[in-house]
Amino acid sequence: MLGILYYPLLIGGIYFLYHLFRYITNIVVARKIGFPTVHFPLFPQNHVVWVIMGPLGRLSYKRYLPTWLYNRVALLIYGLEFFQKDQPFTEYVVPQVQANPKLLGKGKTYLLVTGGRLELWTWDAEIAREVTSRPGEFVQFDMASVVMNVFGDNVLTSDGANWARHRRIVAGAVTERVSPLVWNESVRQTRALLASLNGKPEQGATSQMFDMVKRVTIHVLYAAGMGNRQDFDGGKDLVDGDKVKTGMGMSYIDAVKIVNENAAGFTVLPTRFLRNYPSFLPGSKWLNDLGQAKVEFPIHTRAALAKEKQHTAETGQARNNVMSALIAASELNEGDVEKGRKGPALSDGELMGNLYIFTAAGFDTTANTIAYSLLFLARHPRWQDWLFEELDTLLPSHPAADFDYTSIFPKAHRTLAVMLETLRLFPAIIHITKMTRTPVTVTTASCGTFTLPANTTVYVNNVMLHRDPAVWRHLNMTPLERKAAADDEDGIKADEQKYRPSRWINSSGSATPVFQPPKGTYLPWSAGPRVCPGQKMAQVEFVAILATLFSKHRMEIVRKMIPVVGAPPDVQIAESDDALNRRLDALMEDSTPKLTLEMDVYNILAGEKRGLGMRWLPRR
Ligand SMILES: *[C@@H]1O[C@H](CO)[C@@H](O)[C@H](O)[C@H]1NC(C)=O
Ligand SMILES: *[C@@H]1O[C@H](CO)[C@@H](O)[C@H](O)[C@H]1NC(C)=O
Ligand SMILES: *[C@@H]1O[C@H](CO)[C@@H](O)[C@H](O)[C@H]1NC(C)=O
Repeated sequence: MLGILYYPLLIGGIYFLYHLFRYITNIVVARKIGFPTVHFPLFPQNHVVWVIMGPLGRLSYKRYLPTWLYNRVALLIYGLEFFQKDQPFTEYVVPQVQANPKLLGKGKTYLLVTGGRLELWTWDAEIAREVTSRPGEFVQFDMASVVMNVFGDNVLTSDGANWARHRRIVAGAVTERVSPLVWNESVRQTRALLASLNGKPEQGATSQMFDMVKRVTIHVLYAAGMGNRQDFDGGKDLVDGDKVKTGMGMSYIDAVKIVNENAAGFTVLPTRFLRNYPSFLPGSKWLNDLGQAKVEFPIHTRAALAKEKQHTAETGQARNNVMSALIAASELNEGDVEKGRKGPALSDGELMGNLYIFTAAGFDTTANTIAYSLLFLARHPRWQDWLFEELDTLLPSHPAADFDYTSIFPKAHRTLAVMLETLRLFPAIIHITKMTRTPVTVTTASCGTFTLPANTTVYVNNVMLHRDPAVWRHLNMTPLERKAAADDEDGIKADEQKYRPSRWINSSGSATPVFQPPKGTYLPWSAGPRVCPGQKMAQVEFVAILATLFSKHRMEIVRKMIPVVGAPPDVQIAESDDALNRRLDALMEDSTPKLTLEMDVYNILAGEKRGLGMRWLPRR
């Protein structure tokens, strides 16, 4: 009898002993580093099974596990920064700091001690500054790179000299030169969006607003990235538009969208598995589509690259878009060989990788940031009025007049503040992840000197970092606002937990009219040498889209109609302010961290109950 069990027991035993050994090693190492610790014995938290099962089962664990156990399990689930907020710190970290004088000043950081890799989790701004400013020592997290690398090496996944080369070329391509193009296309697309709402019943009410905004951001990216224009409605007058090419199953835009929606994990599955996944099993359409998108994305991109090269060769002039700038920068020019350059600066695979990253990073982030901003502006309409004050002085009053980038964008401080405040509370990227390859020593004022061993993963928790009362509480608050805050509808919340975009507006006459957070305190685009190259582009796009949406309209949420108890079923009353506010808060708190943090507001079909009704009312 025991004979049959011999091998399973042996293998199980070895597995157990291995993780026990790692756990004990981690305890010893963590003690030497000297931060508060949180333990989860034996568990290899980065095992692929758990990486998938953790997020998928989270709501069940929350429901069925006792709270003390769920809270601990949650520490190992992707997205915990958003779900758990300050809970790990108040429950596990603060008591340790209070009990141990050696841990004084270290209450914003803990070491996660398991049977897997050692992890440092922090929202200490000084540590965040060190981590982001030393990319040679805090290198890219290898497990994230696997996902972002599917189409080729790129600026996000490379390190060291390789990264410096990618960075030089990408930063040279995504420059201020594309800003006017991004601005113009954003205005054009958004105007078409608003026009498509006109004539709809119910004064332009729609439950598909968020899908429309995403379409705008994809089209803007398509224009700025590939130099191709796609009309908002995809109508007859396509200028160089995106079509399903003969022999292919989907358009470039669809391929990008599908790859992006699944990038959080499934993209790494082998293409052959995805394409041949049997149609009678659950999820088959989704996985088959992903397989097809994975095959077709490079084909589309290669075709676009060839076309761009041909255009440049024929006209002798490169067009003003990111792809053509990337090609120009990576080509071997006359004289390069004499200067010692051996080959092209970016191989075709690397060009593809960077174009994919540019696309993947470029539209979901902006679309989600606009979605959260719209929710906040609907939830707190007085910030719409605040925004109108600015727009009405900056924008031309004639409806068809051009919005001029150079005269409007640099002065649109409030519109930009709406974006910055949204990203403070709902950062698209909820953490910055890095790892060490060699031991790294760090010194800060509050934590002293400590050394992290090789292979430590470091997570900077943006959700907590962006709510640090030392930085954000009562920032740029006028006496009037202070008084108003006390009887605000969410008056019990501390100021840093509230949506208050005016905190970003320095008093007039200040050298920096928009508040610049101290280094390490605000990282929606990361910071330091590896700061997101698309930061300015995202800001230009956001401001253009919001300014256009609100230039002539105010926005409100369509209220739900609720049956009256005891009355005939056709007697209904509109939901109350309180009920509406609760519904909006719940929708935002229900966010899921995918590639970026997002709400369940996409892929809404016409007439579907799911989704949020939104109405645009003419205001001037
Ligand atoms: C943007 O639009 C303006 C007109 O508002 C035009 O003068 C300018 O050339 C456009 N720029 C680009 C890059 O399309
Ligand atoms: C770090 O991890 C890599 C891969 O898991 C391993 O090859 C290497 O030996 C580790 N280095 C140290 C110092 O533990
Ligand atoms: C404006 O913001 C900067 C940081 O960007 C800050 O140092 C400064 O004190 C602020 N000035 C005023 C007048 O509020």
